[in-house]
Amino acid sequence: MALSKKPYKGTRDFLPDDKRIQDYLFDKMHKAAQLFGYEHYDGPLLEEVELYKAKSGEELINDQIYSFKDRGDRFVAIRPEMTPTVARMVAKIHKEVAKPIRWYSIPNLLRYERPQRGRLREHWQFNCDVFGGPGRLGEAEIIQLIIFFLESFGANEDHFEVLVNDRTIVDTIFAEISPDEKTTYKLYKLVDKSKKIPKEALERELNELTLKDNGSELFQEYLNLTSFDDLKNLLTKIGKSEVAEDFHQFVTETIPQDKLIYLQYDPTIVRGLDYYTGIVFEVFDKHPDNRRAICGGGAYANLLQIFNESPLGGVGFGLGDVTLQDFLTSHNLLPDLSKPNNDLLITFQTEQGLKDLSQLANELRKKGIKTVTNLEELKFKKVFALADKKGASFVTLYGDDEKAKGEVSLKNLKTKEQENFKISDSEAIFTFLNQ
Ligand code: HAM
Repeated sequence: MALSKKPYKGTRDFLPDDKRIQDYLFDKMHKAAQLFGYEHYDGPLLEEVELYKAKSGEELINDQIYSFKDRGDRFVAIRPEMTPTVARMVAKIHKEVAKPIRWYSIPNLLRYERPQRGRLREHWQFNCDVFGGPGRLGEAEIIQLIIFFLESFGANEDHFEVLVNDRTIVDTIFAEISPDEKTTYKLYKLVDKSKKIPKEALERELNELTLKDNGSELFQEYLNLTSFDDLKNLLTKIGKSEVAEDFHQFVTETIPQDKLIYLQYDPTIVRGLDYYTGIVFEVFDKHPDNRRAICGGGAYANLLQIFNESPLGGVGFGLGDVTLQDFLTSHNLLPDLSKPNNDLLITFQTEQGLKDLSQLANELRKKGIKTVTNLEELKFKKVFALADKKGASFVTLYGDDEKAKGEVSLKNLKTKEQENFKISDSEAIFTFLNQ
């Protein structure tokens, strides 16, 4: 039986037309992170399963992780996320380096998911994390970095919003609702999926929990909050207005005015991963056909403690390539990347032409000109269609007449300007290509 040509379920082959788009996205990621002073790092594809068991949460461990015993009987996992790895790496070196530590990476991750729009089994994820930032400034910087990154594609507040919450606030409210830690954990999981399940199912699951008096009403009230002001009122009602003050101050004093328009309080954002302890956020696409998270993250104060290290707080985000591409496509924010990007196509219309032009091609490559050679003689009428396919801005034409004079003809495909040069005069040709 012939083997299937399809890639493994939920993974992608990147043909050059696909890889060109991913390269464009990655290039923007490198640029944005580096413009904020983040340094590139990477980690291994495999980690011990224990690393994720410590604090990533039951959904990831029970349903999503790819794990197996290696030949040495170690229980290992293909990385489903990068945060535990970066925490492990920072735990190793944080005592010796200046703070804050600002790092970024673009790893591929594997999760056993039911493939659907925006969700695959393998995706690449832009991760930026800052460790040891003073006060809440690291959190504010991370949010500004995401906004800067999305704006670099031309996106604005009509296209996306940053939904935020704070787990210290949720903890404060849930302390009034839940009698113990186990119930609080279940409440978190319920909130996390509250937008994805029908109202009746949510109520059923809520009724199965034993809550404090009026806990159910308070929980509903919490879920109905729609703004920072609503939140403040609820916290004042339960006598905890100081918690609201702190969050309100963070939002209004550390995020610049022109970026505040993106921020929206959302009580359902608590995040599925267990290690978050402070601010939590998700960037949502506003397009009605693509209402999903492009990016998620938050602050985690205690992750380094699993390595017996002093508590060095971190905050960061993960932004997926699949969701980013869907977002950009939905809003028409991707440039035309349907063709490769070359400067010059070398063609010849005489026997052995390539032999005469190959030295020139190499001289131009040394000067940084992307030069693609056609390996066979090419009829004049076919030159321009091929140049278009190769995304070349210039072509050479080299027939019997040029050969006799030791010249080559260069044509600018945009301006249609055409000029003959001595083949040996790569300097003049270089100048023509750069005008
Ligand atoms: P996460 O919410 O699990 O967070 O993933 C972050 C983003 O990665 C999602 O918003 C989505 O864009 C993308 N993503 C996740 N899973 C998939 C999938 N199966 N297919 C396609 N895209 C996906 C984390 O992973 C945290 N470790 C992020 C973080 C970094 N927190 C702090 N630092």
